[in-house]
Parts: sequence; C-alpha cells; structure tokens
Amino acid sequence: MSALLEVHDVRKSFGGLHALSRCSFAVERGSVTGLIGPNGSGKTTMFNVITGYERADAGTIRFDGRDITGLSADRVGALGLGRTFQLSRVFGRLNLLENLRVGSGGVPRSRRKELFSENRCMEMLDAVGLARLAHEPAGSLSYGQRKLVELAMVLAQEPSVILLDEPAGGINPTLIGQMAERITELNKQGVTFLLVEHNMEFVMGLCDVVAVMERGSVIAVGEPEVVRNDPRVLEAYLGGSLDDDPANAVPAVPAAAAPASGESA
Ligand SMILES: Nc1ncnc2c1ncn2[C@@H]1O[C@H](COP(=O)(O)OP(=O)(O)OP(=O)(O)O)[C@@H](O)[C@H]1O
Ligand SMILES: [Mg+2]
Repeated sequence: MSALLEVHDVRKSFGGLHALSRCSFAVERGSVTGLIGPNGSGKTTMFNVITGYERADAGTIRFDGRDITGLSADRVGALGLGRTFQLSRVFGRLNLLENLRVGSGGVPRSRRKELFSENRCMEMLDAVGLARLAHEPAGSLSYGQRKLVELAMVLAQEPSVILLDEPAGGINPTLIGQMAERITELNKQGVTFLLVEHNMEFVMGLCDVVAVMERGSVIAVGEPEVVRNDPRVLEAYLGGSLDDDPANAVPAVPAAAAPASGESA
C-alpha cells in the first residue's frame, strides 16, 4: 500500500487555542484508518482542514500525490475526497432521493446529470441498504439511518477516499453493525476510509491502522492492538482503557437531539 492522503506538519489555531499543533500522519491507499482521541483533541478540525472547510495555518496536505493545501471544499471534493459530518446534515422534509440530488451541489455541473440520475441515486441508496425508503422523507428516519443517507450522498460523488466523522455516534447497535458492513464492502471495492469514532469496538474491528490525537497532536500511529496498549494512549484516555472513552458514556449525539427536520447544518 502507498499513502493516498498525507498530512505533514499541519497547524491550526483558533485565537490562542492550538487545535492542531504540527500534526503528521498518512492514510494508506486501500486502508480503513481510524482517527481517535478524547473530546476536543482536534479530530474534526483535522477533517475540516483536510477537506477545505478550514484553512491550515501551516503544513501541507497531499492527496494522491497532489498538494491540496488551501483548496476550497468544492475543489477537494471534486478531486475525489468525500466526507460526512459529525452532526447529520440531511434535509428532513425532502425524501432520500431528493436529499442525494441536493448533495450534488459541490459536483461540477457537467457531471451532475450523469452522477445524480435517479437510477444511480437508487443504486447508492441500495448500497447503504435504504433503497426501499427512497421516497420517504428523511425526517421520518432514525438518526442512524440518516447517517447512512449521508454515506450514500458521499458515495454518489465517486470518492476514492471517504472521511467519516463519528459514523456510529448516537446510533443503535443494529445500525452500527450495518454501517460497519457497508464500510467493509465499500473498502473491498477499493474505497479508502479515514474515520473518527469514539466507539472502540467499531474502530478496533474495522481499522487496519489507528492514529491517536491528544490536545491537538498526533501521539501514536499503528495497528489497533499496538495502539490500544501504548502507554501514551492510555495516559491520554485519563489512565483508563480505551473502552472507557468518556465520550461513550453519553451518546455523542442523542437521537432526541437530532434536528427534527434536519435542516440545520
Ligand atoms: N471554529 C472554532 N472556533 C474556535 N475553537 C474551535 C473551533 N473548532 C474547534 N475549536 C476548538 O478546537 C479544539 C478541537 O476541536 P475538535 O472539534 O476538532 O475536537 P474533536 O476531537 O473533534 O472533539 P469531539 O470528539 O468532541 O468531536 C476544541 O478545543 C474546540 O473547542
Ligand atoms: Mg469532533
């Protein structure tokens, strides 16, 4: 395997807060790579900087050998780097097919018809197990099902790497299993994944490699079993075990807190 995504010495501050301090790590082509760390350690900021939603203060990001540092989110998406968000962004009053079409906004106009035809959108919904609900309003779905819709929205853009921000956060065990199966299937078809997740069983079961963040730094990178027993990692998790990630005590986003109509970003 070779690196598909390389983050080198990336820094990002918000005022006096160093959200990312000289972070480096790589995502190998064809891998499922995990990015873990306690709340506030910088995982979502890392996603935002990689995908062009935030601008890095310093450092470089390379995707498939190309320097993408500072490119807009639309351009990064068009190059084949897709992402989902920690909080659901689906539109509750639109049905699933309509949601997929709305998600075509970042795709070059010339490719929209081809990528977002009804047949293809149905294929994407089928790929996440939701084709039978294609004409239902997204607001009638559970929080976990909405996360699967978001995965379908990203898939429609044919990304070669997908960044998932807490795909299992706040969703029930059955859907967590379904999410894990979809990721495994897509990975077998050649999609590379970088996923942020607090659910350690999910991370340890799916990932080939895990990078660990603490207070804005990447403190360890390695195979799940190695990382799991790394003293620096255990220390970062307050001297406990990774299974005790405090973020798991309460679902990251309780279903009840999800926007009823889902319109908020
Ligand atoms: N736009 C922003 N403005 C100011 N501070 C921010 C901003 N975004 C993130 N931060 C801060 O940067 C730090 C890292 O936040 P980030 O959301 O990246 O953490 P995280 O690892 O994703 O946490 P969680 O597991 O809770 O989602 C936190 O202290 C957060 O408050
Ligand atoms: Mg986050």
